[in-house]
Amino acid sequence: MDGQLPLVLLLLLVASGLRGQGLEPGGPEEEPPEEEEVPEEDGILVLSQRTLGLALRKHRTLLVQFYAPWCGHCKALAPEYSKAAAMLAAESAKARLAKVDGTAETELTQEFAVTEYPTLRFFRDGNRTHPEEYTGPREADGIAEWLRRRLGPSATRLEDEEGAQTLIDSRDVVVIGFFQDLQDEDVATFLALAQDALDMTFGFTDQPELFQKFSLTKDTVVLFKKFDEGRADFPVDEELGLDLGDLSRFLLVHSMRLVMEFNSQTSPKIFAARILNHLLLFVNQTLAPHQELLAGFAEAAPPFRGQVLFVVVDVGANNDHVLQYFGLKAEEVPTLRFINMETTKKYAPAAGGPVTAASVTAFCHAVLGGQVKPYLLSQELPPDWDQRPVKTLVGKNFEQVAFDETKNVFIKFYAPWCSHCKEMAAAWEALAEKYKDHEDIVIAELDATANELEAFPVHGFPTLKYFPAGPGRKVIEYKSTRDLETFSKFLENGGQLPAEEPTVSVPETAPNASTEPKEEL
Ligand SMILES: *[C@@H]1O[C@H](CO)[C@@H](O)[C@H](O)[C@H]1NC(C)=O
Ligand SMILES: *[C@@H]1O[C@H](CO)[C@@H](O)[C@H](O)[C@H]1NC(C)=O
Ligand SMILES: *[C@@H]1O[C@H](CO)[C@@H](O)[C@H](O)[C@H]1NC(C)=O
Repeated sequence: MDGQLPLVLLLLLVASGLRGQGLEPGGPEEEPPEEEEVPEEDGILVLSQRTLGLALRKHRTLLVQFYAPWCGHCKALAPEYSKAAAMLAAESAKARLAKVDGTAETELTQEFAVTEYPTLRFFRDGNRTHPEEYTGPREADGIAEWLRRRLGPSATRLEDEEGAQTLIDSRDVVVIGFFQDLQDEDVATFLALAQDALDMTFGFTDQPELFQKFSLTKDTVVLFKKFDEGRADFPVDEELGLDLGDLSRFLLVHSMRLVMEFNSQTSPKIFAARILNHLLLFVNQTLAPHQELLAGFAEAAPPFRGQVLFVVVDVGANNDHVLQYFGLKAEEVPTLRFINMETTKKYAPAAGGPVTAASVTAFCHAVLGGQVKPYLLSQELPPDWDQRPVKTLVGKNFEQVAFDETKNVFIKFYAPWCSHCKEMAAAWEALAEKYKDHEDIVIAELDATANELEAFPVHGFPTLKYFPAGPGRKVIEYKSTRDLETFSKFLENGGQLPAEEPTVSVPETAPNASTEPKEEL
């Protein structure tokens, strides 16, 4: 999404400018002669309005990246893109990679409706009007593999037992489609899926000998794996045919281990699994008694496949952020936590009790059945919470302080990473200093990332709320300028500002909120 808006603005400006000068795009094209060499940079063709047509005629499969010189994601992609080009060149693969500077080639960005950078389009057989949107990975191996699966068949055709066995042995996860009739539409669906499921290897066959060898009588997609139960079958629906979405989800769920170990390699897969419930077992893998719990945990997993993802988190392996997210300390392990990724509600088992297959199963059923209340994060109350002008609130003392009927309480809900919070910190301190001798005024702050409040889910930072004295649990949100003068006016005016005060402050949302629901987990 790097700089989406500037691009749109730019396009509008350029387009109106062109129109003003009567230079409409799409005028007669000046085609370079066939022999002209298209310039290259690091093995990447550098294309322009003049040379795109030539490149499309010369290269039957062409991946084109539209970039902008100011785009950070494009800069990050550049070395991977060149590396992928080099890998394919080394294999003499008939695919080329190219790039177009979208800020210079505005006629091309209009022709291909490019609205953000980088945008990648894949052209096949010189077809200029119907390129395929590139949705693959952004690192070299992934880019090269995505192209290989479009150059050749995306699955290996298997003729005999030996070929099938060799393929199955070659990888941890191999998917084979058994189809009685290779002209069937289901085969096309299967091959299309294989083009994009880059982390799996695919084969297909129509040989009766192979149906028999794998005890099949009907069209079936079989996932072979070198772990857990070894094989999972997806029978093709005889009436409805092969459903791409259903098969894709089946493969995703069954290609994962029943119990995933959480680390930087597995976490993308864990988040991509689209399994909304996760059960986490936190252990210290260096301790034998902790390791022994894994067997019971794994034993409980099979009935929940596809519904609850079982994950082991080793507290010794750089997983502090996961512990923190669940409000756990390393001393508290071994322990279980359950989270619904959609609601981000977290659940803990009743204290004590060993982790066994039976207790894990019972805990899952209890959470899924709605019998466990989610828990809320709270820090410990610091002993000196009320010693400074700005009082420190945590989940545990929030209710008591905020709704004290004898006090007017003004609270800043902040996040440690939030820059607007840091900018207003001095004004908040000054405000607290100014009113520290007023018995009925409390200026306070609460780290809303470490303290969750059931009644106040805080989404933007900073959020400022005023809890006036008196009954009725009244709450007034403060949305005006964040400076000492305006804060003071608001307080002295009993929680409102004279009408002419402008409303300006927009809270910051979590930086990664749109891409990942919550940090890592
Ligand atoms: C390009 O592909 C589309 C869709 O497959 C097809 O309809 C069109 O005729 C092709 N154009 C050329 C010039 O081959
Ligand atoms: C895990 O256990 C080892 C051995 O007792 C200990 O040294 C280490 O500090 C523990 N790790 C954590 C994160 O608690
Ligand atoms: C946001 O994501 C980036 C990379 O994905 C990461 O480096 C950064 O720490 C994240 N920030 C927060 C506040 O989660």
